[in-house]
Amino acid sequence: MASTDGLEDIVAAHSYICDLDGKLGKLSYFGLDIHDLAHFSTFEETAYLLWHGEDVNAQLRANRALPEHISEFMRLLPRSSTPMDVLRTIVSALSSFDPDAGDNSQEANLRRSIRLTGVMPTIVASWDRLRNGKEPVAPLTDGNHATNFLYMLTGEMPDDYKSHMLDIVLILHADHELNASTFAARVTAGTLASMYAAITSAIGALSGPLHGGANEQVMRMLLKIGEVDRAPAYIQGALERKERIMGFGHRVYKTEDPRATHLRQMSKELGERTGDSRWYEISRIIEEHIREHKGLNPNVDFYSASVYYMMGIPIDLDTPIFACSRITGWTAHVLEQYANNRLIRPRAEYIGPKNVEYVPIEQRG
Ligand code: COA
Repeated sequence: MASTDGLEDIVAAHSYICDLDGKLGKLSYFGLDIHDLAHFSTFEETAYLLWHGEDVNAQLRANRALPEHISEFMRLLPRSSTPMDVLRTIVSALSSFDPDAGDNSQEANLRRSIRLTGVMPTIVASWDRLRNGKEPVAPLTDGNHATNFLYMLTGEMPDDYKSHMLDIVLILHADHELNASTFAARVTAGTLASMYAAITSAIGALSGPLHGGANEQVMRMLLKIGEVDRAPAYIQGALERKERIMGFGHRVYKTEDPRATHLRQMSKELGERTGDSRWYEISRIIEEHIREHKGLNPNVDFYSASVYYMMGIPIDLDTPIFACSRITGWTAHVLEQYANNRLIRPRAEYIGPKNVEYVPIEQRG
């Protein structure tokens, strides 16, 4: 039996949602190029596009608040809980408060998609405040998704520039074909488990450092380096120690990740605006070194790390913010899976011993 570890290049679904050309470095959602979306669109419009639905602006705004019992439940969690663990736990717990309980129609699942997208930023922002001994800030009844998140996080209205930067980040992260977390969501949905079960699986898969968790690790590395002139020696040493450099390499892209192109520019711009280009400059040195010595390009997580940091976002919220965007892609894929479902069940090639004779435990050596 043929075997491909990591399912590299295996086509495991037919999808209308996301077109990813790893050789050309081209990414589009429903045929719309990611560069055009980043330049001209909004996160809300992107969500609408992914769900092929109606105008979702008002519906997202209407679904920002958390059920009261869930807010109380969050207060019981130890403050040391990571934001990704809290997000996964609370999304799972929301299934107990589902207004569409028992209805597994596509319409009900679209409503769940909108509700989850509306409420996830509230979970992340509320948790950050609670763990810092502050009261959560109630969501805005107006304002876009990005503005509302920044407002709930800080308790202050963000300036338009910051909101716009976050809006672009959310567009860029919204979907990415059969990445590990989306695959996890589709595998779970493929058993006809609920939307909540599928999204809980996806959040778990996203949290790992080889997937969405990489952005947090990138920022930790940049902070460890600290100064521009320390970057060359650090990165050379890391390669000599055969360390895996977070934010580099990709299973599908053999050229520049088109999302990294935007995020690099945004990192540069934010550095100029904040008067501290250190993180951008350190990133550039690392990028050049890794390209020259390993032939690897930065992926979406490399420059997003410094973008979030310069926006004043706590490092361990990087991956939860990724989730707050990718929820649109996850749910779009779950809807697509339900619409044309077949159980996802690959095979493993057995390479262990065969025909082993049973020996009672007390007689084993
Ligand atoms: N740093 C150093 N070396 C890397 C690397 C990285 N970030 N990514 C890949 N490589 C090297 C591997 O060591 C391996 O080299 P070898 O053949 O000499 O052993 C080779 O490139 C292939 O790596 P492999 O892990 O088999 O590729 P993959 O397709 O399974 O992995 C990633 C893809 C994304 C998991 C991998 O590139 C990675 O771990 N990147 C860092 C984590 C990250 O940024 N994740 C976010 C992805 S969007």
